[in-house]
This record gives sequence, structure tokens and C-alpha cells, in this order.
Amino acid sequence: MSWLHIIIQGLWVILPAYVANGSAPVFGGSRRMDFGKTFRGNDLLGAGKTWEGFLFAVASGTLIGFIQTLIWPSLNEIAAPAGYALPYMTVTTAFLLAAGAMLGDVIASFFKRRTGMERGESAPIVDQLDFLILSIPIALALSEINYLTAALVILITPPIHYLFNLLAYCTGIKEVPW
Ligand code: CTP
Ligand code: MG
Repeated sequence: MSWLHIIIQGLWVILPAYVANGSAPVFGGSRRMDFGKTFRGNDLLGAGKTWEGFLFAVASGTLIGFIQTLIWPSLNEIAAPAGYALPYMTVTTAFLLAAGAMLGDVIASFFKRRTGMERGESAPIVDQLDFLILSIPIALALSEINYLTAALVILITPPIHYLFNLLAYCTGIKEVPW
């Protein structure tokens, strides 16, 4: 299998997690997931984790997964003969990938607050990869991707994440470019 094929397979499988993570800032609201609670003087999760953001993000990721299952047969008819066969995805897997992505993001914020970092303060690598903490193990367990594919997805995610965040910052969707 070529490197390009491995990357395409990895991105195809992880797409619901990407879309979930990317949707949160678009839908982010005011109902805080930590209900404004603090823990040892710091916010439990912070104002950046809201129920609106979480739920709409999971819904968006699941919707993309549903669309993927719809277009898979015809897309694969073109991709497979060209040597770029795409793994089959189920809506359940997409939902778990999206939910895992958003839970991983919550876990990262929990630890950022414990180290005293303010909401939105930059934590390099953590900010780019937090949504993969749970979604990569889920992808490994429920899809056809292997460890090499997973490793490549982790490797290419920070630059992709950076580019999209820059775009979101420039268009005013995000307050900070990370
Ligand atoms: N968001 C949300 N609910 C979530 C996750 C994200 O509403 N569960 C929205 C918030 O508007 C948040 C934005 O998406 O500001 C970007 O998410 P993220 O970068 O993870 O949050 P930060 O504001 O950087 O906060 P933190 O320091 O906790 O990572
Ligand atoms: Mg984050």
C-alpha cells in the first residue's frame, strides 16, 4: 500500500472526529459543561466547553459519517480500481469517533485548568491532538485501519489543525489562532 493510500484511508476513517472537533467553535454557546463550578480555585473545565458546542459537534461528526456511508459504494467504485480503496464505515462508528473526539477535548481542558492555564491559553501539541486521545483507539478498535495508519494520522493532524484554525481565526469563528 502506498503512503498516499494509507493517509487517505486514515483521513477517511477519522473524518467524523475532525468534523466534530472543527464544528465546536461554530456552535459554541453559553451553557457551560462545568456549570460554572470551580476546583481548587480554577474553573473545572472553563467557559470554552459548552453543551451546545459538544452536542452539535457530535451531531455534525455523526452526520458526516452518515454521508460517508451513503457515498461509500459509488466513491469506492472509482477509488478501489485506482488503488485507493476506502474502508467501510458505519454510522455507529462515526458517532463513537465524534463523541470520543469531544470527550478527549474535555479531558484536555480539565488538565489545562488543573495546571492553571486560562481558557484559550495555548498548549502546543495538546491543543492539536486532544481530540485524538480517544478517537484513535476507537478507530483502531472499530475500523480496518492499523497502527501505521493511526500513527500517520497523529503525525499529519497538527499541521492540518494549524491551517484550519488559522482559517477559523481569520474568518472570526475562533478568538485565538490555535
Ligand atoms: N467549544 C464548545 N464546547 C466544547 C468544545 C468547544 O463550545 N465542548 C467551542 C468554544 O467556543 C471554544 C471553541 O469551541 O472556545 C474552541 O475549542 P477549544 O479550542 O477546545 O477551546 P478553548 O477556548 O481553546 O479552551 P481550552 O483552553 O479549554 O482548550
Ligand atoms: Mg481544546
